[in-house]
Amino acid sequence: MKNLTILGLQYGDEGKGKIIDLISIFYDQIIRNTGGHNAGHEILYNNIKKKIKVLPSGIFKKNCICLISDLVFFSINNFLNEIYLIKKILKSLIISRKSILNFKIDELIDYLIDLNLKIGTTKTGITSSSLKNLLKFSIKIEDFLKLNILIKIKKNFFFYNFFFLLYKIKIRINFKNFYFVNFFNFIKVKKNIVNSIFFINNYYKNIFENSQGVNLDLNFGTYPFVTCSNILSKSIFINSKFFYNNIKYVGIFKVYLTRVGNGFLITNICNFKNKIFSILNNERGTNTNRLRKIGWLDLNQLLNCVKINNISNLIITKLDSLIYIKKFKVLINYKIITNKKNIYNNNYYFPNFFIFSSWKSVNNKYIKNDINFHLFIRFVEKFLFTPINIISIGKKKFDIIIL
Ligand code: GDP
Ligand code: IMO
Ligand code: MG
Repeated sequence: MKNLTILGLQYGDEGKGKIIDLISIFYDQIIRNTGGHNAGHEILYNNIKKKIKVLPSGIFKKNCICLISDLVFFSINNFLNEIYLIKKILKSLIISRKSILNFKIDELIDYLIDLNLKIGTTKTGITSSSLKNLLKFSIKIEDFLKLNILIKIKKNFFFYNFFFLLYKIKIRINFKNFYFVNFFNFIKVKKNIVNSIFFINNYYKNIFENSQGVNLDLNFGTYPFVTCSNILSKSIFINSKFFYNNIKYVGIFKVYLTRVGNGFLITNICNFKNKIFSILNNERGTNTNRLRKIGWLDLNQLLNCVKINNISNLIITKLDSLIYIKKFKVLINYKIITNKKNIYNNNYYFPNFFIFSSWKSVNNKYIKNDINFHLFIRFVEKFLFTPINIISIGKKKFDIIIL
């Protein structure tokens, strides 16, 4: 199929960056479709660890167009910083003129909102920018070419001041400063701004890169512990204005669960084991450096995500992480214990687990792996009624098994 969507099927950090970097050699254009700099992808480039946030994960491939689409919350500052850190030139990067701008003050507003709501957001201004978008005065990047930007900035200031008043914070933002600093930033990326519809709907072979994971989707996810984007597979038709239907949906998931923020996991493992496991496997938020919560793989949830997103092929990552343990669990289904009221709590669910024996090592050749490895992979494929095509067994680009 000409086009592909890569979709995280859990709570983000499934290893999307590594896989998109790997398969981008077969594609012409990588389109970042959701989120903003709340995302964080770690990619090994020439064996050096690179972190990207708002840049599409095809950025390390030569001759590949990287496009940031309409409904990405775009911080020019952050974008320029990332380019500087990975020492890339802006040549093959294009930004939709409709992408929604995210300013430094939005980060402060997110911080203030999270003081009360305690979602555990990344405080990258995504909630604030999304709120402004709903209130219909978000500033799109193309607005810097129009005069009405001044009116929009005024409305933005009203919004910011409202929060400062609410939280009794004495900050005065200077209109001229705000305009000129951001206008100066805009000038730096002006030549990279395009009408993205023409790039997305033509003969290129595209990968649509959805950041985050479907369980963080604003509507489908574990509300209220979710992000502000629509992450489901069909979001490409709205976020990126993709017109056609010749697209394959590929889901990616880890062999266990992780999540950052204040949401919970039904399959949570106890604090002590969690700490050891997250340190051993370096499970820290790429963006915020918080230790990730760890849980066992939830196949029940995964099956729902596969169905809802029309997933036809699967990629599983981190099978090397289980070599440290003898046995591991996989959730098959759960009962709801009805006398407890709080559904955002582990006490509400009684999980039924299947216990698997682990393997001591992993090998790039599928048949050279342990019998337990084979049993597990085939079990997951049968449970999800979907083939697994790539198995990732390490951080490096070619630590993979292709089936
Ligand atoms: P993303 O947000 O989905 O792109 O994932 P992140 O980059 O935030 O987090 C995934 C982490 O796992 C990164 O540090 C990757 O280098 C690493 N990773 C990806 N696949 C594997 C794998 O198969 N094994 C191991 N050990 N690490 C992996
Ligand atoms: P990638 O693309 C993991 C989480 C935050 C928080 C919740 C809401 O690297 O997989 P937000 O700032 O978006 O309003 O925070 O969503 N979150 C992620 N967790 N990976 C991500 O992206 C995430 N993006 C947001 O930790 O719990
Ligand atoms: Mg990540």
